[in-house]
Amino acid sequence: MQKYNFMPDLRESHLAPVSFDNPEIRAVPTQKFPPNNLLDLITYTRLHSEIRSLAGGMPASELHPRVDIQNAINEVLSDPNIPPDEIFQYGNARGNYRYREVVADNLTKVTETELTPDHVITTVGGQDAISKFLEATFGPGNPERKVLLTRPDTYSALMGAAERFNIQVVGVLSDHEGIIPEELEKTIITLLDDYQVTPAGIFEMVLSNPTGGVMSDKRGLELSKICEKYGLNAYFDYAYFGIIFDENIEEPKLLYLDSKGITVGFSSSKIIAPGLRTTHLITKDDELMDKYVAIKRDEKIFTPPILELALWKLFSNQEWMKQRLATVKKRYLVGKETAVEAINQNSDVLKISINPQGGMFLYPEMPPGFSSHRLLERLLTEAKIALVPGSWTQTHQLQMADGNLIGPPMKDNNFRLCYSTLPPNELKEVISELAIFLRKVAKEENIQLFN
Ligand SMILES: Cc1ncc(COP(=O)(O)O)c(C=O)c1O
Repeated sequence: MQKYNFMPDLRESHLAPVSFDNPEIRAVPTQKFPPNNLLDLITYTRLHSEIRSLAGGMPASELHPRVDIQNAINEVLSDPNIPPDEIFQYGNARGNYRYREVVADNLTKVTETELTPDHVITTVGGQDAISKFLEATFGPGNPERKVLLTRPDTYSALMGAAERFNIQVVGVLSDHEGIIPEELEKTIITLLDDYQVTPAGIFEMVLSNPTGGVMSDKRGLELSKICEKYGLNAYFDYAYFGIIFDENIEEPKLLYLDSKGITVGFSSSKIIAPGLRTTHLITKDDELMDKYVAIKRDEKIFTPPILELALWKLFSNQEWMKQRLATVKKRYLVGKETAVEAINQNSDVLKISINPQGGMFLYPEMPPGFSSHRLLERLLTEAKIALVPGSWTQTHQLQMADGNLIGPPMKDNNFRLCYSTLPPNELKEVISELAIFLRKVAKEENIQLFN
């Protein structure tokens, strides 16, 4: 199996004292340097407050709905109709019934598909939902060495989860909407017929991270039909539900939800708060749902019922949700426009070929010759800027026994930029400083700039 090894050697760092007293930070004494995954990078930036971060994928601090969550929890605790056991005892494997009911009602309106609480299961974040899908689809340890197909620029944590389950991820050519259906079918046939390798599932995104494209229902339907034909399960990730900027783009209705083997995963992280770890996945495939329930039951890892109930209160308040989405979207859009403008002002070193239609990220390109992966250490220590190297968000090629490579090659002159966290004026400043740093590196390494 072809192994890509872009990583410089890891070495222990001796962390500088932190400048503010945060028990969460004190709990993390050492870590590898440079970080080689996103959570470690986020921790590193928190430990080094001088670093300005374009990494992560977090709502701006001022967006945290502290008071609304406080009120929702108070309402739950003082609601005479909620028995104490529902709040304080263990939850059940499917998740709190009221939460699942309000989700099913709300999504029935969006999808025009009849959904009931039995089609909903809660997970400890969208990331946990992906892991559940992988485990249900491939089985523990992936004993049959089946593979997962996805677009080449994909969600970075998917790769980490797949590695943990011993699953190879193969990139399939895509456009701004996602995997190109003909390419999906071609790849499935090649793997099955030429190499006797079985693809067991695809991972796709309704609103993509990092490219910010929206997948139409037509595309989703085409992909799900191919999956059904070849017996693959499909996970459609909708972590960015409700965050489409362009009013001319219709909110997808997820018309493929009725097909066999389909799961759609949602997250409350981007519209409410990541720390609540309160989220859900939807499937109308009973066999898959039974597997999810069994995995959750055996793991006994649940979101605390009090948090599910707090979100139930918020999700039940249509007016609150409408306003919340509008507030979040407005703030993210300001971030996107600021970042696009700053990039366009530095077009000799930065370029964006895809203008995101929603979400939190840009996926800028640097002139060929730059490696965002190799630069990470210098970016952190010299420029004091954090970003997600492109290689963390890309699939590796799969080398077959005859030497053929399946999937497009990696390209390392892209990186992921989150525009939703930093205040706009700081975001602009950081992008300009990044451009200055890149010009310096280009000079040192003789890299030709964009003209
Ligand atoms: C595409 C995608 N899926 C899932 C997640 C996981 O979100 P969480 O685990 O915070 O719910 C993220 C987070 O960034 C994401 O970008």
